[in-house]
Amino acid sequence: MHQQKIEAAQEGDAALAAAYPLRGARLSHGLAHHPLLQLAALADAALAMQDAHVECRTSATAGFTDSGADKRTLMRQILDGSVDGWLMLRFADQVGAYRDLLADTLASYAHIIEPVTGPMRDPKAFIFLSSDQTVTPLHIDPTYNILFQIAGRKIFSTYPLAPPVVTPAMEEGFHSRGDNLLPWHADIAALGSDERLEPGDALFVPHKLPHRVAVVGGLSISISMTWKSDWSMAEGAAHRANARLRQWGWNPPPVARWPKTSRFRAMAARILER
Ligand SMILES: [Fe+2]
Repeated sequence: MHQQKIEAAQEGDAALAAAYPLRGARLSHGLAHHPLLQLAALADAALAMQDAHVECRTSATAGFTDSGADKRTLMRQILDGSVDGWLMLRFADQVGAYRDLLADTLASYAHIIEPVTGPMRDPKAFIFLSSDQTVTPLHIDPTYNILFQIAGRKIFSTYPLAPPVVTPAMEEGFHSRGDNLLPWHADIAALGSDERLEPGDALFVPHKLPHRVAVVGGLSISISMTWKSDWSMAEGAAHRANARLRQWGWNPPPVARWPKTSRFRAMAARILER
């Protein structure tokens, strides 16, 4: 059993090393029974966190319940399964024990990641509790991500970071205005590739790779551990510079793709944003 676990971890490492940073990779992990990731501990963590960082909504209305007593009630109902909904602990690493879990887990991948994209910047943890059939619509995130499936099952579908899924205008809108949701229709749906994630499975999701996530069969718990790199932060800054140049009536060239950097535009954006 122990030997099998070591072999699975070695296979995951090899898959990540071959894929990083542009392609996704399936990994395995040993966090499914971690005490910090069970329902009771997550309920305590949700109550210990800043209210604004616990996002909560019912599947039925898809509207967020913002704060106060209603939110606490809804959180408890989602956690005990009496109401269908979705709960996200944004920046769970604000709670010390989760900060250590994040640091230890990411450190175990650093020997693969850091030789390629340098130091892992701005690490964050997001914990998702989602009722059966919850769908997170197609979107992009400004980070690299490893999603660890803890309980329940998810279909994690990824789509090309290219038109028609993401046009250059959408990418610029994402960096300059934070519009992270992407249009969804049948032609786009056909371009997806699905990964079925069970407890013990993890998925490396490249920086900005579009994805849509559906929970299938019971309450799902997962934790995303994200990071940035000097390259990804410069790339975002260069997109913001392009947005600014366009406002001024210029027509800037496209932002460089990995491994190139649009150095001057990244620098200009940072100076303007000071
Ligand atoms: Fe995401």
